[in-house]
Amino acid sequence: MPPPLREIVAAVRHAPPGRRLALLRALVPILFQRAAQPSIAQACEFDSIEEYRPCYARLAHLLGRPGQTPAPGEIEFLQQVCTRATHYSGAIGGSEFFFLTAMASILAPARTIEIGTSSGFSAALLAAALHHRNPRSKETLVDTIDLHSNYAVDRTKPIGFEIPDLVPDLAGAVAVHTQRESDFVPDLARPNELGLVFIDADHQHPWPLLDLLRVTRYVQSGGWIVLHDIQLGTMAATRPEKAATLTQGAPFGAEWLFDCWPFAKISGGNIGAVQLPRDRGALLPSALALIERPFEVGAWSHRKFRKELGRSLVDLIE
Ligand SMILES: C[S@@+](CC[C@H](N)C(=O)[O-])C[C@H]1O[C@@H](n2cnc3c(N)ncnc32)[C@H](O)[C@@H]1O
Repeated sequence: MPPPLREIVAAVRHAPPGRRLALLRALVPILFQRAAQPSIAQACEFDSIEEYRPCYARLAHLLGRPGQTPAPGEIEFLQQVCTRATHYSGAIGGSEFFFLTAMASILAPARTIEIGTSSGFSAALLAAALHHRNPRSKETLVDTIDLHSNYAVDRTKPIGFEIPDLVPDLAGAVAVHTQRESDFVPDLARPNELGLVFIDADHQHPWPLLDLLRVTRYVQSGGWIVLHDIQLGTMAATRPEKAATLTQGAPFGAEWLFDCWPFAKISGGNIGAVQLPRDRGALLPSALALIERPFEVGAWSHRKFRKELGRSLVDLIE
């Protein structure tokens, strides 16, 4: 089914006035097209550290970098992380941080951006992966953005508090930006600059979609965006005992975004990566179809989200 006229009208209405006509021109043909079909994800789940090398080889193959191997020190670092004393709540888990590390190691961008810092665990892992790949770099390796200033589980701790413990020599290579959200990315990156972005902030629909649309302009065509919690909603719906332990609920925002993605994508379990198409405008039909799904955020904020989504859809056509 093509996206309904209603969504197209709403997107145009909420776009910045000077860009409405351009968006309308891009959206009208979509009315007469079949909606893009979701693609089938390639699977690459990292079950254990012992399986890291073979899983890495498969991921490298899927990313079009066959023959790439882990950097010196990469596996030893992960082994240390596996034996750390405390796993702070909210941070990605074992197989997920193997997947994220391998993505960063294989793609080896000069730097990356993360949305959703919390304790700083995944930011530290990203910094370590990029450092192992390029130990001579003296630049900022990771810019990580969080809406809050303090860690939700223990408000005496600042956002990113774990970074100096996990990567003491790299703490200066991670820039933590608090009281910010994904609309801060234009201050941190140039258009088409980034090869990899990690989104792990608010998972309530349409937050993950909005985060993705806002960063898309700054990601290279063919670049990758890693999404966390792509199975959270279904997992909670099918395993009530697990759902009871989820203090933040089990929204479907990241899962719907991953499942609807019509281009290349790789599932590492509850974490996955989606590849941007050469033409960002090709994302419009799927983005509109997602906007049509019921929002999980509070009703009071729906108008604000429609406005922000309209704004960021415009970025896809430039
Ligand atoms: C699941 S935690 C991130 C975990 C982290 N990526 C890790 O694995 O170590 C989500 C974080 O996103 C932050 N957050 C929530 N909504 C946000 C938003 N709209 N923009 C940026 N950060 C947000 C929260 O304050 C929280 O610290």
